[in-house]
Amino acid sequence: MRHTLLLRRPDHVVQALVLLLTGLLFLTAGCTEAPTVSKTAADAVWPLSFDQVVPLSTPAWQLVGSRLQSIMSTVGTRFPHITENHIWQTSGTGDWTGGFFVGELWLMAAEAEKRNDPLAAVWRSQALTWTRRLEQRITDTGTHDLGFLFMPSWVEAYRQTGDERWRIGALQAAESLSKRYTPGGFIQSWGKIGEPPYAGTVIIDNMMNLALLYWAAEEGNRPEYAQMATSHALLTQQSHIRADYGTFHLVDFDRDTGVMLRGRTSQGLHDNSTWARGQAWGIAGFALVYRYTHNPEFLAVAERLADYFLAHLPPDHVAPWDLHAGAGAKKDTSANAITAFGLLAIANSLRQLGETTRADVRAAQARRLLEALHPYSIFANETLRTKGGLLTGGTYNYNADRAVEQSVVWGDYYYLKALLDLAAYEAK
Ligand code: GLY
Repeated sequence: MRHTLLLRRPDHVVQALVLLLTGLLFLTAGCTEAPTVSKTAADAVWPLSFDQVVPLSTPAWQLVGSRLQSIMSTVGTRFPHITENHIWQTSGTGDWTGGFFVGELWLMAAEAEKRNDPLAAVWRSQALTWTRRLEQRITDTGTHDLGFLFMPSWVEAYRQTGDERWRIGALQAAESLSKRYTPGGFIQSWGKIGEPPYAGTVIIDNMMNLALLYWAAEEGNRPEYAQMATSHALLTQQSHIRADYGTFHLVDFDRDTGVMLRGRTSQGLHDNSTWARGQAWGIAGFALVYRYTHNPEFLAVAERLADYFLAHLPPDHVAPWDLHAGAGAKKDTSANAITAFGLLAIANSLRQLGETTRADVRAAQARRLLEALHPYSIFANETLRTKGGLLTGGTYNYNADRAVEQSVVWGDYYYLKALLDLAAYEAK
């Protein structure tokens, strides 16, 4: 394929320029060797206050930039996934999280351009390099995670560059995702297509992958993708969400009829508890589905899920790993970051509807969640001065003892995205 050949063509001149400019970036930031956050010019004013973070002040911008460059120099060509002891664990082909670091680079590219930062071209070039690394996942029909992988990377690359190669690849990824659609009207989340034990299993996280189908329905003139996504969202609304708007992590369906068999958990405390990140995926997922469908029912669901999340937070406003885990439970800061992102999506939709008072309330709730994360952030957390990501306190899987109160790349991505979205909302 033409676009595939183009992607693989080495461009030594651009690469050399990138290396040169990256070196310049660190010299500008006061680094003489492998960059660490503690050696930036921003160090002089560390810790930063939350007011210096929304909107991103120059020291805050430098801290984020320096840390992302530092992560790149540490992980080489592998994808940062989670940390253990604040050291990045990586994946070779991107696992379910490969889109997030690439997404952070695209956020930096756009923001650098907005700020007239002379290194905007460097961020863009690095974003392009990292975007290419996901190419082999386009045809991966073995996962539902293609939305997580391709929305912040290839779709964003297309949005920012207009280059057809990214559009074509992302459309192919949507086609791969559509292969997991079942006769029962849902996308199978885990396992090989149609094979036990997961032939009828849907996790609430799956809501976040629907955006790729909606995007491809519009971009590729494939209305059947949007129908699949809406069918999946309706089944999730009817099945994963309990009467009080807490959620099941997993639902097992009859694969052929879509009849719910049972609700349960894998990453939560117990079957009837509410896993905090699952609730967050639901909030953001339904908010995004509203954006594509304009069905007010989906916006209302996102708001009710958010109300449940907020009502179950402890006094410090930082989510525990499960909303029923009790006092002193380990945190999952990524659930706060995802929910803040979702609340801002809700706020922007409400504002478009002319509901400005309600919109401002939702944006204020997002601000409160982000402010609560401040002590866990690169701007104020001592541990993160020399290692880890933008945010600590994220928990991947408490039950499996994986990355408990660590940096997780999706937490970093949604944290940065929500900070920028909040600043944009408040600037209007
Ligand atoms: N989507 C996988 C997780 O949130 O752990």
